[in-house]
Amino acid sequence: MIMTTFKKELPLLARLWLRLGRLLGKTVLIVLGAGLLVWALAVAWFAWQHRGPVSAQEQIPDGEAAMTQDVIQTAVRIVDQHRESTRYLRDAHAKAHGCVKAQVQVLPQLAQDLRQGVFSEPGKVWQATMRLSNGNAYPQFDSIRDARGMAIKLLEVPGAQLLADRQGQHEQDFVMFSHPNFFVSDVAEYRQNVAAQADGQKIRAFFPGWDPRTWQVRHLFIALATLSPPPESPTQTTYFSVSPYKFGEANAKFRVMPDPDNCPAYALPRQNQDLPNFLRSALNQQLSTDRVPACFVLQVQRQDANKYMPIEDTSIEWREQDSPFETVARITLPPQDFDTPALNLQCDNLSFNPWFGLEAHRPIGGINRLRKAVYEAISDYRHARNTGT
Ligand code: HEM
Repeated sequence: MIMTTFKKELPLLARLWLRLGRLLGKTVLIVLGAGLLVWALAVAWFAWQHRGPVSAQEQIPDGEAAMTQDVIQTAVRIVDQHRESTRYLRDAHAKAHGCVKAQVQVLPQLAQDLRQGVFSEPGKVWQATMRLSNGNAYPQFDSIRDARGMAIKLLEVPGAQLLADRQGQHEQDFVMFSHPNFFVSDVAEYRQNVAAQADGQKIRAFFPGWDPRTWQVRHLFIALATLSPPPESPTQTTYFSVSPYKFGEANAKFRVMPDPDNCPAYALPRQNQDLPNFLRSALNQQLSTDRVPACFVLQVQRQDANKYMPIEDTSIEWREQDSPFETVARITLPPQDFDTPALNLQCDNLSFNPWFGLEAHRPIGGINRLRKAVYEAISDYRHARNTGT
């Protein structure tokens, strides 16, 4: 009896099952179609919003000075949070792989229109100091995903310095990290984002409210991409200025790329990446143990204001198809012994700042204006507390 009922009902169940399958199939297709449409609309909207021409001048929004003061408070809070019983460290890029001596040679055949500022004299060799670092505010293991920093200070640079109180210093700094764009556009967004992060609220940093118009999904992806796995060595990755600078009359971004072809061939022995400071070991292995120099090129990418190459939005990477990078100098790290207690302390006590330099390379755009006040404040804060250590 039970068997007969089951046999009769089986086709009905099968039909229901098939119908459910068709319904599910249709739903998936509709969702996929709607998703594609939204994606296409978003791409079109993005392209429409992000099209040239743009301004070749800085545009300073109202209230920037007050927002900057807020950021300084947060940055001091971060420095205090990370101090624990150690010295006061940098608010960002706290851990150095080393400070090394470098020579920066302006290209001997540099084109006339690229001869600007410290690149005015073809063939000129500048002595420089370079600090290589991890991006995090805490000196964590090198294997952890992070941005990697490179800061260069050209020494004995003649001419008036940008900052009135730095006239005796004669320097030109270039401060970069290993990703071409930044996870925020401007000062207002930085203030909101970093305050949330300092409170340990990583989600709120990119999703500050319920209103989807405030969600920074693209910027979240930039932040995730910036935190990348470590290179084999600090000499084997590319560093970008991210924010723009004057380049004589023009505006430009710059980058530093490894240039192994201009150095003796060298294969770095495999480092044990489980060791906390293996990037320092890699640098030490090449320059100190194996005594092989490392080479880079320093390049500039000039703004074409007819293209979408904005000054006031650091989340936008200037596209190479809109304006190519052009080499202006070669950088050599000669063989050297940099990893000594005295040199490491000297390295920690140095300050690099995009505002230490000449008018010809003046930092421009909101994020650089913000950096002027914040780097100065944090550098003073930690130096004042580290005296005598
Ligand atoms: C354009 C994007 C940026 C790049 C490429 C960048 C890169 C760097 C690098 C490489 C360092 C380490 C310098 C050294 O070796 O001493 C550094 C330090 C620092 N950065 Fe940035 N940074 C950027 C944006 C910012 C922003 C927006 C802020 C905050 C407003 C900031 C705050 C700091 C501070 C406070 C230090 C430590 C300064 C010191 O105590 O000497 N940075 N940055």
